[in-house]
Amino acid sequence: MFDIQTVRKDFPILKRQVNGAPLVYLDNAATTQKPRQVIDAITKYYETTNANIHRGIHTLAEEATAQYEDARKKVAAFIGAKDPAEIIFVRNATEGINLVAQSYVRNQCQMSGVKCQVLLSEMEHHSNLVPWQMIKMQNAECRMQNVESRFIPVTPEGTLDLSNLDALLDGVKFVSITHASNVLGTINDIKKIIEAAHRVGAKVLVDAAQSVPHMTVNVEELGCDFLVFSGHKMYGPTGIGVLWGRRELLEVMPPFLGGGDMIRSVRYNGFEPNDLPWKFEAGTPHITGAIGLGAAVDYVQGIGMDAMREHEQELTRYALKKMRALPDITIYGPKEDSDNTSILRSIEVLHQPVVRGPVIAFNLNGVHAHDVATLLDREGIAIRSGHHCAEPLVKKFGQTAMARISFGMYNTKEEIDILVAGLEKVRKVFTITPPNLLLL
Ligand SMILES: Cc1ncc(COP(=O)(O)O)c(C=O)c1O
Repeated sequence: MFDIQTVRKDFPILKRQVNGAPLVYLDNAATTQKPRQVIDAITKYYETTNANIHRGIHTLAEEATAQYEDARKKVAAFIGAKDPAEIIFVRNATEGINLVAQSYVRNQCQMSGVKCQVLLSEMEHHSNLVPWQMIKMQNAECRMQNVESRFIPVTPEGTLDLSNLDALLDGVKFVSITHASNVLGTINDIKKIIEAAHRVGAKVLVDAAQSVPHMTVNVEELGCDFLVFSGHKMYGPTGIGVLWGRRELLEVMPPFLGGGDMIRSVRYNGFEPNDLPWKFEAGTPHITGAIGLGAAVDYVQGIGMDAMREHEQELTRYALKKMRALPDITIYGPKEDSDNTSILRSIEVLHQPVVRGPVIAFNLNGVHAHDVATLLDREGIAIRSGHHCAEPLVKKFGQTAMARISFGMYNTKEEIDILVAGLEKVRKVFTITPPNLLLL
């Protein structure tokens, strides 16, 4: 049974006052707050175990290694991976994408000596745009066969236009696509894309940074080839992320970074790489990050992914309804956020993903998003404003900035009421006071 007050007590930061008001934290798509259970796991490790892993044979080193590897097993089970060796601990989702871009795609491109067509979408985060652009620059410098990117278009409603998917996939070797948009909230029909990509022999990476924290994601059910996410967006620490990949693909990929731990043996003129997963974990890893992420996995599973998701969907429907009633507001992203929970459930049963996650981007017409965020902050309300690391997408919607709220499991309808009252205040300030007088 999901009890919001019990959940809120687990998050010490929620007791904070900001600018004289209770904190209303609505920036969860950027990063989530941490429950006491995660904070305690990290503190306990430093207070009782701290040692470097894999190398020492003393008791502390063995205990630290066991805890780190135990976290890997938890993460593997959490995303339905068959083999913990397929879980690579990285710094974040961004590093996971860079690793695959360089070590799999660029390497395949070099070995085959032919152009590598990559399919992305127009709703990607910069972390799934720039790594591909960097390969292009690197290969051009070396006068090598190159990577070309194509994009699945975004419709004005904020969904992916899959009507031309087969044509877009023609000649494609690799698809790298987000499961859920950090701007529009759209949850993509990723299974359809993966199946179509596999029909033409392309491999697929899923950027699950915005889906893993909010819904059950199972790599075997999805059928993808790689998947990445960040610990800090799912109640875990910053600086730890996950790359999952199919063993047979990870086996043929060269190491991304070189140094200690990723080797089996080293000579002055060469080295033998280590086995999976350590081949990709060079140097001392973020040990407490992995342990904290393991604690976050335990925590969300204890709460229950379905209960959490239902709560967040209800918040999203409630917020959309309240916000749509405000004058002069533009809300971006899919409209199919039915008020009818049973419809949503039946859609899920049919394995047609619900189209919107707990992310709402909007603009108060005539007010800059940064002004909205600044005035709300004075009321203790934390929201995000700007291009959300998806500048091309925000521009496609004719904007340079959007305001964005995003929910976590601890948010409440009362907080949404506070937000809506805050937005009404912002509107009043901007209708009564000319904007330039605000600076005086
Ligand atoms: C969809 C998506 N992908 C990737 C990332 C990158 O995450 P990180 O900065 O933790 O690497 C984000 C971060 O907001 C995101 O929303």
